[in-house]
Amino acid sequence: MTAAAPPASVDATLELLTSRGYLAERSLATVVFLALRMGRPLFLEGEAGVGKTEIAKVLSAALGRRLIRLQCYEGLDVASAVYEWNSSAQMIAIRLAEAAGDTDRDQLSSDIFSERFLIKRPLLQALEPDTAGAPVLLIDELDRADEAFEAYLLEVLSDFQVTIPEFGTIKAPAPPIVIVTSNRTREIHDALKRRCLYHWVDYPNAQRALATVTSR
Ligand SMILES: Nc1ncnc2c1ncn2[C@@H]1O[C@H](COP(=O)(O)OP(=O)(O)O)[C@@H](O)[C@H]1O
Ligand SMILES: [Mg+2]
Repeated sequence: MTAAAPPASVDATLELLTSRGYLAERSLATVVFLALRMGRPLFLEGEAGVGKTEIAKVLSAALGRRLIRLQCYEGLDVASAVYEWNSSAQMIAIRLAEAAGDTDRDQLSSDIFSERFLIKRPLLQALEPDTAGAPVLLIDELDRADEAFEAYLLEVLSDFQVTIPEFGTIKAPAPPIVIVTSNRTREIHDALKRRCLYHWVDYPNAQRALATVTSR
């Protein structure tokens, strides 16, 4: 994958989406352009099937960035979305240290809470440096997740960093391109919407389809 520069104008954004077969209104291209330019997350709301998820896929392909997808569901927690310690590997390391007669507790605890034992889930993966440029992070169907998770996300999206008590703070060298979607089965808090550029995605109409077909 080779990274491409973000589009330089609304027209270029429209062209970029259209060239990948995505039918976009000018208003959508405008908000996508602004989100890329300002480095702000994009919040897309709309009925199922209007192309919210597809935008993230198209942007990832067009810009040559990795697509990291977090599919939300009821009960989604930090262990599945952000990170988890590999406790069985930690246990083995402790046993081995014991067997070898290592008794330095501080050393052992800093060893077992090191990156080697950290299982990175999508949100943490999206904060890692990437030579192809910051990835596209798709947080899909946020309305399915619990409100507690939404509150957690608010912190991640404001600072693009995650704090792991036993390890420290991990901050993205460059903010990922974040796309949050919701099918509006419930309202998403204003606080989260304020962090993002918001757009209501409508069904493509015939005119939009025609414009795309004739511009090819
Ligand atoms: N504006 C669009 N242009 C091109 N294809 C679209 C568009 N909207 C939807 N689709 C197609 O419809 C399908 C459903 O889109 P999807 O992005 O999964 O919808 P949503 O995430 O809004 O539920 C996908 O296969 C996608 O390719
Ligand atoms: Mg979707």
